[in-house]
Amino acid sequence: MADTTGGIEAFYLENRSFSPPDSVKSDAWITGSEEYEQAERDWQGYWARQAGDLLDWSKEWETILEWDRPFAKWFVGGELNVSFNCVDRHVASGLGGRVAYHWVGEPGDTRTITYADLLADVERFANVLKGYGVGKGDRVAIYMPMIPELPVAMLACTRIGAVHSVVFGGFSSDALRDRINDAEAKVLVTADGGYRKGKANLLKPAVDLALAACPSITDVVVARRVGHAPSGSEERTVDMTDGRDHWWDSAMESVEASCPPEAMGSEDLLYLLYTSGTTAKPKGIMHTTGGYLTQVAFTHKYVFDLHAERDVYWCAADIGWVTGHSYIVYGPLANGATSVLYEGAPDHPDKDRWWQIVEDYKVSILYCAPTAIRACMKWGTSYPESHDLSSLRILGSVGEPINPEAWIWYQTTIGGGRCPVVDTWWQTETGAIMISPLPGATTTKPGSATFPLPGISAQVVDESGSPVSVGGGYLTIDRPWPSMLRGIYKDPERYQETYWSRFEGRYFAGDGAKLDDDGYFWLLGRVDDVMNVSGHRVSTTEVESALVDHQSVAEAAVVGASDPVTGQAIVAFVTLKSAFTPDQDHGEALRSFVADRIGKFGRPKTIIFTDDLPKTRSGKIMRRLLRDVAEGRDLGDTTTLADPGVVEEIRARASVSPTEE
Ligand code: WTA
Repeated sequence: MADTTGGIEAFYLENRSFSPPDSVKSDAWITGSEEYEQAERDWQGYWARQAGDLLDWSKEWETILEWDRPFAKWFVGGELNVSFNCVDRHVASGLGGRVAYHWVGEPGDTRTITYADLLADVERFANVLKGYGVGKGDRVAIYMPMIPELPVAMLACTRIGAVHSVVFGGFSSDALRDRINDAEAKVLVTADGGYRKGKANLLKPAVDLALAACPSITDVVVARRVGHAPSGSEERTVDMTDGRDHWWDSAMESVEASCPPEAMGSEDLLYLLYTSGTTAKPKGIMHTTGGYLTQVAFTHKYVFDLHAERDVYWCAADIGWVTGHSYIVYGPLANGATSVLYEGAPDHPDKDRWWQIVEDYKVSILYCAPTAIRACMKWGTSYPESHDLSSLRILGSVGEPINPEAWIWYQTTIGGGRCPVVDTWWQTETGAIMISPLPGATTTKPGSATFPLPGISAQVVDESGSPVSVGGGYLTIDRPWPSMLRGIYKDPERYQETYWSRFEGRYFAGDGAKLDDDGYFWLLGRVDDVMNVSGHRVSTTEVESALVDHQSVAEAAVVGASDPVTGQAIVAFVTLKSAFTPDQDHGEALRSFVADRIGKFGRPKTIIFTDDLPKTRSGKIMRRLLRDVAEGRDLGDTTTLADPGVVEEIRARASVSPTEE
């Protein structure tokens, strides 16, 4: 984390507590501790009330919760359809003309998609999928840039009860292939490419490479994006495989307009989303229907104090990650919100792109990652200051711990001192926000996610699993919540082992946290071998196994080192086989090798060549030491090393190795 002492300390002390002004307070849905007490008295009843108030069910549930630890079933016996809840019912209640998405393409093209437009597209695309034989329970892989066809494809799956597995468009073809094969997806929905930082990134070549080894895929739908380039840019041709590949537009033309929603069981699988853990193999996190939609709708409404009839909400994440699933697609649509959907980078064509969008669309709620805030801080206040940001009302943060300095900058420079900042802690596995202030109800402290939401029970525990009341420890959750993961696809043992075995009776999140004297939660980052790079989870093992797959690499150890902008940066210590020369070019070759294997976001920022790695007597690589080296800190006690000389050697090398600009 960035240094939080020194210059900002005085400011921090003065601004330790921030209560939103009355103008915001009077608007808020939840205004006091009564809500928390009520939820605590009868937490199952509390969630059932939310499920009933926020969603339309075609059949009521019989049992609120069946809990056979660690397996939960919520609203058992109930039936509903997600696309119906996200689209149809708003149109039916006369809101068809309301904008669902103000879409902004990076090159400057825009589209306005109303709820009625969305419904028409979702129904047609559901028929397209049906035409390829997709039915209830079948898996559909989706690999797309941030274009409106992406939420359409997701909603179309939910309409017919198919399970989507969205693979972030920045993943490599190898990563795409592995995810498709694990899910045994029948159909892949993709695009020819997308725009990012002024360039057309082609997706179809990666798709073709992946599909050479994906026997389960029978059909591929390709949306045109870069082929529809605005005038002036070059037209691109895309290889289409006869019989397998279909253009989105022609597929949509050749089907019927109407497709009735399927009634789905509350516990039917809604989607898979693969996430990194402590091994190289990504985990297919399973989310189901009723509980998931309840908690994303609840949190989206109350954490952001959403007033759908007038707010313009913008979550600047990518739909390829869980933040986009829950807070670009399902939460906002379930609540009938109007969202901005932006395709590109925050600094294209200039570093004020975001603030231009906020001004153009009068965005009132902004939700983004600390990395982005820190990057904006670095670029300077002149960019936000040259725009009218007075429409902003609520600011959210997610994905990594936000340092107080960035929190305060966000609150003052972007929020003009009037907007509450909600720092929201949650995970792919939790499905929805778990720890967060409620604007109007919670007095915030810069850098703290404050308290678990009503209905949520989280504790910080020590090594032995005993709750601590003040001080540091491990973040755990001791009772089920509606949007919790239902398991890891095809691997119930790994689910039990990864999340429920470290502390008896508790879900262990993998994060360290501390409680201050006032009971506020402060998230401290991962305590396992998972790195958090710009809010993206990357496992050290995933990068290590990519490295050792290279013919020149004998051994590799990867650590996340503190980075002032991205939170953590990937640093790889690599021992080459003797026939290879450790030099700058070789470092570059290894970096792009890893990028090809995982995706650019998994590429090490720095590679440090070393003749040996520091190991304990039992042969375990000493990561703490490597992290210290990577962060340029003094080394601690090194006596457990097999060969203490190695450390000096590594330290000397650290200053002369290829590093990204
Ligand atoms: C981290 C992203 C501190 C944490 C929604 C968690 C946070 C991991 C916060 C999940 C926050 C997320 N403060 N850390 N407000 N939000 N994290 O699965 O380490 O991509 O375990 O879900 O991000 O990352 P994931």
